Amino acid sequence: MRTLKALAFDAFGTLFDVQSVAEVCEAVFPGYGGELSRRWRQKQLEYTWLRSLMGRYANFEQVTDEALRYAAASLNLTLTPENHARLLQAYRALRPFPEVPDVLRQLAQKYTLVVLSNGTAMQLQALLKQHALDRYLGQVFSADAVRVFKPHPHVYAQVEVALKLSRGDIGFVSANGWDVAGAAAYGYWTFRVDRQGVPEETLGFPEAAAGRTLYDLLAVLQT
Ligand code: LAC
Repeated sequence: MRTLKALAFDAFGTLFDVQSVAEVCEAVFPGYGGELSRRWRQKQLEYTWLRSLMGRYANFEQVTDEALRYAAASLNLTLTPENHARLLQAYRALRPFPEVPDVLRQLAQKYTLVVLSNGTAMQLQALLKQHALDRYLGQVFSADAVRVFKPHPHVYAQVEVALKLSRGDIGFVSANGWDVAGAAAYGYWTFRVDRQGVPEETLGFPEAAAGRTLYDLLAVLQT
């Protein structure tokens, strides 16, 4: 196992469970919660890629809002201003996956830990603080600082530049296969948290390792 100095974590779907939004979706639109939250998340990602390709950056909160409008319309669901606000609020109240605090506590003894996410710094810092994870994750790097979304190399480059490390010293951890491929293409060591048992992307930038939860990352790193 190579020696890494820093680990950068994706936020949504990796540290924080985005499917917890499904519960609020279900409360607002009974019978549609699962489908609405899946479409919302998928459209949110698509819009980050589309806006990056179009050169029309808008921050992740706006993208999330626009994706919700599309996802609701695609299911013929009418969003009242109240429901709209309630659903967006759910994104600000995500829960971390259960193993996250313990794994970060252990890793923090050996590595510099940071967040590298599409979310805005304000949004991410609020979530970290809410769950007392800011004590482990010292710095937050956001796509917002470079005004383009992952997997654009400019987003990943922020960690290497700010921490003054070489790419080979940095590990990147994400539950999003396309994000892992982007970081691997950039030159980081990568770990994919495969919580749902989905295959690795076939983009030609293989993950270094994968596991079902972040505890498997500890095992891979022999921490
Ligand atoms: C993020 C998205 C990709 O946190 O989940 O950047």
